[in-house]
This record gives sequence, C-alpha cells and structure tokens, in this order.
Amino acid sequence: MSDALSQPMASNSFGTNPSSAEQHNAPLLQLVDITKRFGGLSAVKDLSFSLQQGEILGVIGPNGAGKSTMVNLIGGSLAPTSGTIFYQGHDINRLPPHRRARLGIARTFQLTQPFIGLDIRENVMVGAFFGQRGLNRTGASRVADEVLERVNLAHKATFKGSQLTIADRKRLEIARALATNPQLLLLDEVMAGLTSTEVAQAVELIQQINKMGVTVLIIEHIVHAIATVSNRILVLHHGQKIAEDEPSQVLSDPKVIGAYLGERYAKERRAE
Ligand SMILES: Nc1ncnc2c1ncn2[C@@H]1O[C@H](COP(=O)(O)OP(=O)(O)OP(=O)(O)O)[C@@H](O)[C@H]1O
Ligand SMILES: [Mg+2]
Repeated sequence: MSDALSQPMASNSFGTNPSSAEQHNAPLLQLVDITKRFGGLSAVKDLSFSLQQGEILGVIGPNGAGKSTMVNLIGGSLAPTSGTIFYQGHDINRLPPHRRARLGIARTFQLTQPFIGLDIRENVMVGAFFGQRGLNRTGASRVADEVLERVNLAHKATFKGSQLTIADRKRLEIARALATNPQLLLLDEVMAGLTSTEVAQAVELIQQINKMGVTVLIIEHIVHAIATVSNRILVLHHGQKIAEDEPSQVLSDPKVIGAYLGERYAKERRAE
C-alpha cells in the first residue's frame, strides 16, 4: 500500500467507545430495514444486508431499482425514511457526508462531474481535503500524485476535466474517492460507457484496490464484469432485495433472470 493510503485515518471518532468487543466483531457495513421514500415512491424498501471487511459486493438490478439511492443513503447525502445504517457497529444515520468520509466511506458518482476550472491533480486534492483532516496543500498534492499513479492518470495530472475521455473521467472519480483514504469504497457504474479493454482494466484496478485492504461495493450493469470481480452479488428490484448469493448462484436464479438478467444478457450478446 502507498504511504498516503496506508496512513491511519485521522481521529475518526464516532463519539462513542470504539473498542468494545461488539463493535470489534461487527460487519464493516450493515443496513437494517432501510426504506427511502420519495413522495409515494419507495426507491429502497426494507433493505437489509451486511458487508464484511475485505469483501467485494456487487449490486445489480434494472434501471430505477434503487441502486444509486442506496449509495446516497450509505454516503449520507440522503437520510433514510426508516431503518438504520451501521458502520463498524456504530449507528451513522445522523452523520453528514464529510463525517462519513472521515470514517472511511468513499463513493463515486454515476454522473462524473469534475470541477471544470481545476486540473486533474487539483480535482483529486479536493477529495483528499474532504476525507482527511489536517492536510495542508503539500500533503494533499502528495496524496493526489500517489493516487493518480495508482489509477494510471499521473501523465494527465495537469489536464483539465474537460480534456478527459470517458474512461479517464471514470478513473478520476475513483481517484477522488481513493484520495479520501477509504476503508469502504462505493462504486456507482464506474464501467459504464467503457470499451471492453477499458472494462478489463477497470476490473483489474478494482481488484488491486481491494487487495490493498479496501472493502468494495460495486454497482454495475456489465454482468460479466461484476460476476468476475464480486465475492457476492445482491440484486435489487423495485427497491427490494430479491437475491443475495455468490455470483454463479445469482446468475442462475430464475427470479433474477426474470427481473433483470434475461434482458441484460441479450443486450451484452448483441453488443459482442
Ligand atoms: N431525489 C429523488 N427524488 C425523487 N425520486 C428519486 C430521487 N432519486 C431517485 N428517485 C427515484 O427513485 C428510483 C430509484 O432511482 P435510482 O437512481 O436509485 O435507481 P438506480 O437503480 O440507480 O437506476 P440506474 O440503473 O438507472 O442508475 C427511481 O424511480 C428514481 O426516479
Ligand atoms: Mg443509478
């Protein structure tokens, strides 16, 4: 692991005693009966699952299934209508996004939005400042350079966001998230719009990040990629979990084929 990424997290206080046996043995992330309603629509409904340290959990489901809403709930940009989110055994429901970032939760955005006036290094520095306390400009710049190296964007550090290809913009999203020094990385469609070679590179990058000790939750529509990279796959449909198992089980589950895979497999075959 690089120096910047292996630093201990800066004073990540939950405001409670983190050393009890219960918290020590707790899953890294646990959602308990989470519901998010927008008016009459339940975008996420009674969703419960947990994620152990070191895992890669894939999340799939049709458009509008509630996947990005789930990421927004975990990252803290949305509050659940009901239910509780635990991180390392602590209830984080009331914590704002920057506090969650400092606890080690990082996310990418489905629609990439680099700061247009900033170059790539500066974009990543924003991530470093957001997630790590007490960094000065030099420290943030060092973190940015290490992370850009890791995602293979170092040669474009002085480019503006508008000069990047789709694949580079996706890498920049990952770099900004990594610069927060995460324990848990939430990836929302970082492979969308990539060529098959770029998808293979992205799979490799995610595997490398995971080997560094980062737990990953990855949302993707590219079924073969998510099956390759994930230890387990959770399937959402109309905001509800309809399956959660190892990839081979999920991909052969008639419920999942009926709700999602039938159509996706056909699309992937047409694209080949
Ligand atoms: N801020 C919001 N206000 C109202 N409705 C919303 C809001 N955000 C999401 N929704 C609705 O919630 C549902 C779930 O949306 P979400 O973006 O989570 O789906 P998704 O699974 O990420 O889909 P996709 O695969 O297309 O990215 C959709 O019906 C969407 O229109
Ligand atoms: Mg989405």
